[in-house]
Amino acid sequence: MIRKAITIPHKLFATVAKPVPMMNNLLKSQAYINGCWVDAISGDTFEVKNPATGNVIGHVPNMNAKDAQLAIDAAKRTYESDEWRNLTAKQRSSMLKNWYNLINEHCQEIADIMTAESGKPITESKGEVAYGNSFVEWFAEEARRIYGEIVPSSLPNRETIIMKQPLGVAALITPWNFPLAMITRKAGAAIAAGCTVVIKPAEDTPLTALAIIELAEKAGIPKGVINVVTTNKAAPVGDLFCKSPDVQGISFTGSTEVGKMLFRNCADGIKRISLELGGNAPFIVFNSADVEKAVDGAMISKFRNCGQTCVSSNRFFVQEGVYDRFVELIKQRVEDLKIGAGDGDGVQIGPLVNKMQFNKVSGFVDDARKHNSKIITGGKALPEHGELFYAPTIVTDLSPAAKIYTEEVFGPVVSIIKFKDEQEAIQKANSSRRGLAGYFYSENLQQVFRVAKRLEVGMVGVNEGLISAAEAPFGGVKESGIGREGSHHGIDEYVEIKYICMGNLKY
Ligand code: SIN
Repeated sequence: MIRKAITIPHKLFATVAKPVPMMNNLLKSQAYINGCWVDAISGDTFEVKNPATGNVIGHVPNMNAKDAQLAIDAAKRTYESDEWRNLTAKQRSSMLKNWYNLINEHCQEIADIMTAESGKPITESKGEVAYGNSFVEWFAEEARRIYGEIVPSSLPNRETIIMKQPLGVAALITPWNFPLAMITRKAGAAIAAGCTVVIKPAEDTPLTALAIIELAEKAGIPKGVINVVTTNKAAPVGDLFCKSPDVQGISFTGSTEVGKMLFRNCADGIKRISLELGGNAPFIVFNSADVEKAVDGAMISKFRNCGQTCVSSNRFFVQEGVYDRFVELIKQRVEDLKIGAGDGDGVQIGPLVNKMQFNKVSGFVDDARKHNSKIITGGKALPEHGELFYAPTIVTDLSPAAKIYTEEVFGPVVSIIKFKDEQEAIQKANSSRRGLAGYFYSENLQQVFRVAKRLEVGMVGVNEGLISAAEAPFGGVKESGIGREGSHHGIDEYVEIKYICMGNLKY
């Protein structure tokens, strides 16, 4: 049987899977505050498990608001110190470059940890190290290009100077699905701008975060610039971030529900917040599409990280003329996917990250079944692989009443809906309150521009299923969030614009 691999970005690396070594120099068991590796004040810890096997792979401090306050204090002290403030942009850039080089050198060790705690296939983990590190490289370069402006004044003897200054202390709350890239996309920009940060990594994947912080320390990033608070009780820590006057900004990637709560909690302090929340990405295949290319795009868009990606396609709209061909081809490809533990050779689909995710995905498929949808492949748990494995699934004849039609499944499920014409496709694609990414395949140039402009999303993939890149602005519209990450716009979340009016100049 010929197995077509899902193409992973940055696939510079061979697909040799190695077991997670018992000894990994970057495997940490303490959090990081003010340049010191520390336990929780309470001494409490929590387990980190491998979702493929259920085995415990480490323990980290279970911190609370008191620990988080120490981290904020350290970040504030450092932010206000002359040593940090007086660094030039070039010096901050050099530190980020050192960090980038060290992450590159330690790619295998980081990827091993990532696969062990997230379940991601090892090739994808290596791909994420490269992808995540591209943000460190990008923001090392951008650090030197945070330009101000001098605008001609409308009044005599005056100059209008516009300057960008760092925001201050930024709290970064990051998810488990990209345990490295979501940290570097935020922290890279924040440090480039001159901020200091407190990171709260996801409870499922704190070990990847701690591994790269060890490298940040080695890279010469001064104490107090990056602080990491590990916890499995996120609410009190998130609350403190929102309420503390010493935190000037929050950046959160995660669910829309939590994002809304943080947004509300930041209202009192009129605190800067950037939110990268859930999506419900449409993937439209028009009659004019190259169907083979569309299937390639669908596979990478849907099955990257087992479908646990905010920009994953959630609803596939396929036009009548190419529907049967698309369904036939994608079914073949889905049935060929190799499933197993992430460190297994050639594995493309790992487990879901935890029981909650597993229940959500299987619940959505059961609900679609109840609404008379057809499950043409998959649709079941795979206990022979482990407790958290779910079969890659295709659902057709989807009823709009099924949950999967309106909500993000965040799992390996392709839901296909047939449509007649362009207008119907756009109307259905835009019928969601989410608007992160959208994809469509068409070889008709007029259609390409029409549809790209009309999709209500922050990012559009035209004849492309994988669009994330350091140089491109990542973010959504509607309830998918506010702000942008990556690109030169990513810096804007971490700077204040200051206007300086220079008056009474003698010319
Ligand atoms: C996400 O799922 O939140 C991030 C995906 C990406 O950066 O491509």
